[in-house]
Amino acid sequence: MTADALLCLCRAGFEPELAAELTERAAEAGFAGYARTQRASGFVEFVCHDAAALDRALPFHQLIFARQKLLRLADLRELDPTDRIAPILAALEATTAEGPRSTFGELWVEHPDSDEGKPLAGLARAFANALRPALREAGWLSRQDDASRPRLHVVFVSGQHAMLTRSDTRDAAPWPLGIPRLRMHPDAPSRSALKLEEALLTLLDDGERKRLLRDGMRGADLGAAPGGWSWVLVRNGLHVTSVDNGPLRPHLLDSGKVEHVRADGFHWQPKAPLDWMVCDMVEQPRRVAERMATWMREGWCRHTIFNLKLPMKKRWDETRLCLDLFTAQAARPMTVRARQLFHDREEITVFATLR
Ligand SMILES: C[S@@+](CC[C@H](N)C(=O)[O-])C[C@H]1O[C@@H](n2cnc3c(N)ncnc32)[C@H](O)[C@@H]1O
Repeated sequence: MTADALLCLCRAGFEPELAAELTERAAEAGFAGYARTQRASGFVEFVCHDAAALDRALPFHQLIFARQKLLRLADLRELDPTDRIAPILAALEATTAEGPRSTFGELWVEHPDSDEGKPLAGLARAFANALRPALREAGWLSRQDDASRPRLHVVFVSGQHAMLTRSDTRDAAPWPLGIPRLRMHPDAPSRSALKLEEALLTLLDDGERKRLLRDGMRGADLGAAPGGWSWVLVRNGLHVTSVDNGPLRPHLLDSGKVEHVRADGFHWQPKAPLDWMVCDMVEQPRRVAERMATWMREGWCRHTIFNLKLPMKKRWDETRLCLDLFTAQAARPMTVRARQLFHDREEITVFATLR
C-alpha cells in the first residue's frame, strides 16, 4: 500500500511537543522527513518518503505525546458532501497499484479531539454507518470485526477534508481517538484516580497488570491527598502508605489498608523495600525525576508510576531531559514507558519497573 505520512493524534495544544518528538525519533531511526501541524488542531502529520517503514520503526508504545499512530494512505480534500464514499473507494483502489489488496478487519471514523474536531463527531458516526456496507460490498472490509487484520480509519478534519489511514492493531491505541473511556467511580476520592487507572491500563500490558499488581503487595503514594491514587492501589489489592501533609478522605482510612503519614514526600523513605511507589506531587519535574531515581537506585521499590508536571515552555526538551536524568541516576536495568494520558493536562505519566 502507498503511504505518504504518519498521522498522530494528540492533546490539543501539544502539537509542538509531538512534532518535536516525531522529528527527533525519526532522525534517530535514520528517516528524513518533516512534521506539519497547526496549533490546537490535535494532530501532527509527519511526511516521509517511506512512511510505512517509519511506521514500523516508531512503535506506538514508545511515543509519549501521541494518543494514536496512523499510517496515511490518502489525504482527501475538497470532498463533496453529497458523496464522500466514492473518493474513498477510489483512493483505496489506487493503493493496489503498489501493493497487494488488503481486507481490513474494522472501520473507525474519527476526528481530532480539538475545538474544530469535536463538532465532527455526529458526521463521523453517521458516515461510519454509511461507509461500512459500501466497504464490505467492495471487499475492503471483513464481514465480522477481526482484530487480527489492519484497521481502516477515516479521520475527518472538516466536512470536506478527511484523511484515509490504517493502523496495525498491535501497534496502535485500542480506543477510537486514542481515548480510553473511563468512568469516575462514586467512591473515588478525586478525579485524579482516573489518571492512575488510565496509567495502569495504558502503560502496563495484560501480563504485567497480573504479575505486578497482586493482593497483599505494599506501596507508597507520595503527594497522596485527597487519596485518589491510594484508592486505586487499594482496589488493586495493595496496602498503602499515603504521604502528604494534607488530609485524606476519611472513607479511605476506613478500608484498614491505608496508613496516612504526614511528611515531606521528598524526604520520607520506607523502613523496608516496597513493591510500588506512586507519586503525583506538584513540583519541578527535574526534582521529581531525581527523587524517583533515588527510589529505584536504592531499591526502595521495584515498580513506580509518577507524574512529571511540564513547564509551559520547551516541554519536549524538558521531557527528554527528565527521562534521561531519571534513567541515568537510577542506574539500574529498567523498563521505562511514558505517555501523556488523556487524563493528564500539562503533564506526562511515567511507568518504570526493574528488569
Ligand atoms: C495533585 S495533588 C495529588 C492528588 C492525588 N494523587 C489524588 O489522586 O487524590 C498533589 C498533592 O501533592 C502534595 N504535595 C506537594 N508537595 C509535596 C511534598 N513535598 N510532600 C508531600 N506532599 C506534597 C500536595 O499536598 C497535594 O495534596
